Amino acid sequence: MDARDYVIVGYGGIGSGVLEQILQCAEVEKVVVLSRSAHRHADARVQFRQGDVSCAESLAHVFAEVSSPCCVINTIGLLHGDNILPEKRLADVRKEALLRSIEVNTYSTIALAQAIEQNFSRKQAVSLVALSARVGSIGDNRLGGWLSYRVSKAALNMAIRTVSVEWRRTRPLNVVVAYHPGTVDTGLSQPFQGSVPEGKLFSREQAGNYLLDVINQLEADDSGSFKAWDGSDIAW
Ligand SMILES: NC(=O)c1ccc[n+]([C@@H]2O[C@H](COP(=O)([O-])OP(=O)(O)OC[C@H]3O[C@@H](n4cnc5c(N)ncnc54)[C@H](OP(=O)(O)O)[C@@H]3O)[C@@H](O)[C@H]2O)c1
Repeated sequence: MDARDYVIVGYGGIGSGVLEQILQCAEVEKVVVLSRSAHRHADARVQFRQGDVSCAESLAHVFAEVSSPCCVINTIGLLHGDNILPEKRLADVRKEALLRSIEVNTYSTIALAQAIEQNFSRKQAVSLVALSARVGSIGDNRLGGWLSYRVSKAALNMAIRTVSVEWRRTRPLNVVVAYHPGTVDTGLSQPFQGSVPEGKLFSREQAGNYLLDVINQLEADDSGSFKAWDGSDIAW
């Protein structure tokens, strides 16, 4: 894939890791980062915009700043926080936590796909890569638990597949992909790192590197797929 401009949504562990990797590429002209908080970066190619992904106006401002071909990477996600803890059992599930998980983990990518349609013409090539998680795979679920997170990521995967089918017909230059980064040393995974086998906890830098490698190898036929950090396909 040939992108000179990038949009990164969310500036957490993986968002910041992938930004640093993108900036290593001399051909990259601009990276706009949308975050709820204010940030600064020494590289003049980086522009931070403060705002919420569910605000169409914020997204219109961000997309007005980039040219195609470009790649939009959604790195926002919620596993714990906001009075939410991943559930150990069915009895732990609360409606508010489930709906909040869907809002952050599922709706954010749907809002981005809609904003891409509204702000780019069909002749402009735009790729949308959304950070999903292997635990959102229905076929791979043997352990159970984490119901809200799993449900919201499985719904994200279905949204991506559904958008890909529509875009194949209406916007063949657009690509949309779900991506699993592996287990990465960030605030999101921090409380659960105890059970990670040695060598399987990636640094933010490694995670950014793997993500950019997969993005660089994306082709039109990959639209609607669920990729892992090593480029392999994950069962839906
Ligand atoms: N770390 C892992 O091991 C791992 C494994 C599998 C999948 N993932 C997925 O990878 C993505 C990135 O995760 P990460 O590890 O980088 O996590 P992180 O460091 O916690 O960053 C996640 C970002 O999501 C945004 N966010 C969090 N809660 C939000 C809320 N309630 N409303 C709106 N935005 C919210 C924040 O962006 P701003 O504050 O900048 O707006 C935050 O910086 C997530 O989708 C996650 O599910 C991570």
